[in-house]
Amino acid sequence: MSRNWPESVGIRAIEVLFPSQYVDQTELEQFDGASAGKYTIGLGQSKMGFCSDREDVNSLCLTVVARLLERHHIKHTEIGRLEVGTETIVDKSKSVKSVLMQLFAASGNTDIEGIDTTNACYGGTAALFNAINWIESSSWDGRYALAVCADIAVYAKGAARPTGGAGAIAMLVGPHAPLQLERGLRATHMEHAYDFYKPDLSSEYPTVDGKLSIQCYLSALDTCYRLYRQKFEKQQPQQSQLGLQNFDAIIFHTPFCKLVQKSVGRLSFNDFLLCSEQERAEKFAGLERFNAATLEGSYFDRDVEKAFLTQSAELFANKTKKSLLLANQVGNMYTPSVYSGLVSLLISEPASQLVGKRIGVFSYGSGLAASMYSIKVTQDASVFEKFVSKLDYVLPLLNAREKVAPEQFSELMEVREKNNHAAPYTPTGSISALFPGTYYLKDVDALHRRSYERTPSNISNGVH
Ligand code: CAA
Repeated sequence: MSRNWPESVGIRAIEVLFPSQYVDQTELEQFDGASAGKYTIGLGQSKMGFCSDREDVNSLCLTVVARLLERHHIKHTEIGRLEVGTETIVDKSKSVKSVLMQLFAASGNTDIEGIDTTNACYGGTAALFNAINWIESSSWDGRYALAVCADIAVYAKGAARPTGGAGAIAMLVGPHAPLQLERGLRATHMEHAYDFYKPDLSSEYPTVDGKLSIQCYLSALDTCYRLYRQKFEKQQPQQSQLGLQNFDAIIFHTPFCKLVQKSVGRLSFNDFLLCSEQERAEKFAGLERFNAATLEGSYFDRDVEKAFLTQSAELFANKTKKSLLLANQVGNMYTPSVYSGLVSLLISEPASQLVGKRIGVFSYGSGLAASMYSIKVTQDASVFEKFVSKLDYVLPLLNAREKVAPEQFSELMEVREKNNHAAPYTPTGSISALFPGTYYLKDVDALHRRSYERTPSNISNGVH
């Protein structure tokens, strides 16, 4: 790689991982005694992936990084920085990054910067930004960076449990990337809030104020979008109109799919409040009754929500719906969630449709940290097609998962709950249920040291 100022820095390869087992949300509604349709229609979720006690955040990261390096034929010595974003903390001192160094030991490459970053679901974006910043900095030594994010999203029994999930994403970051992060178009909003947090270090479960968390998410979206629009206007003053039309696709952090549909409506409401009178008459005819509405006063205003959900329905269908495939089928992955949205979009849209296009990204982590930025897809159709073809394994793997009854899911959650931080401990979860090439927790010794093994690879199905 050249040592000159790098051009077009961004994502050169992306790998996604989700659990091999899931619970069906319709069955879970019945099991939980929730009204029929609450999880599937009300929250917009179909299936929820989960991990037994055989997997933890270290094993998820080991699997996704090993797979990315193998499938993309990247040498271990070609990596100069590795960042991990996670909120699934198994050790208050030792980083997941240091565990991942096991993968690099045989190559002799210990010269790899970067450690872990935590702020709820935002850590993955922080990892990606750190990786990009390193490559664009004077510290860059010409090698690639890896941004890795992984989480196991589990909630105590109750209203939040169906919004769980799990997964991991690894992104190879470098110059001349098929997906380039647009320079100068990053807008961030950070604030102190107790909407979702994990104060009990002995438990995997968060403390959640569900309603507040939704308000925090939507208000961070409002602020980031307005700031992004300002930065966009400054950078591209020749654009005659500002607003959602400048994005060809928009992806979101997805705690549950329905919130994302509402978020598209919310962005449209922002456009409505910010546009000229002429634009308002052209694009928002019939919505004049909301001329005096405000952002602050409308977070739970059903009239505003419904009107802009309807007004933005086509926009949602064209620009966002496809990005919800994995979120609907796996659930909330926390840090990887928004990047699983990127993978979903890439595998659901013909590659030719995305060449040269701009993808808007909204990343949110409770507590809270949020950013909106944009990704430009390369103009080079053959490079992009090759990039996307590497994701051919995703749908077959999604369909190869095993469905587990809610009773069994609930029992497995109890095993995790009971043995969280137990030492010494040997997990009981099935190894044969895991996908080929999956790292799993072999045991935890009396000094809390975790060791891992890997299921045999199966190159024929593209996963190894
Ligand atoms: N058929 C169809 N729809 C139904 C229904 C039925 N039988 N029963 C209920 N619904 C609808 C409700 O009307 C509601 O939809 P609207 O809001 O559009 O009206 C929806 O289903 C959910 O019902 P409730 O609001 O009654 O649900 P709840 O209060 O019991 O729980 C929740 C919902 C608060 C989101 C809860 O699942 C939770 O706390 N989840 C975790 C927190 C979360 O995900 N927050 C999101 C923002 S924070 C974030 O993004 C960070 C993160 O990743 C955690």
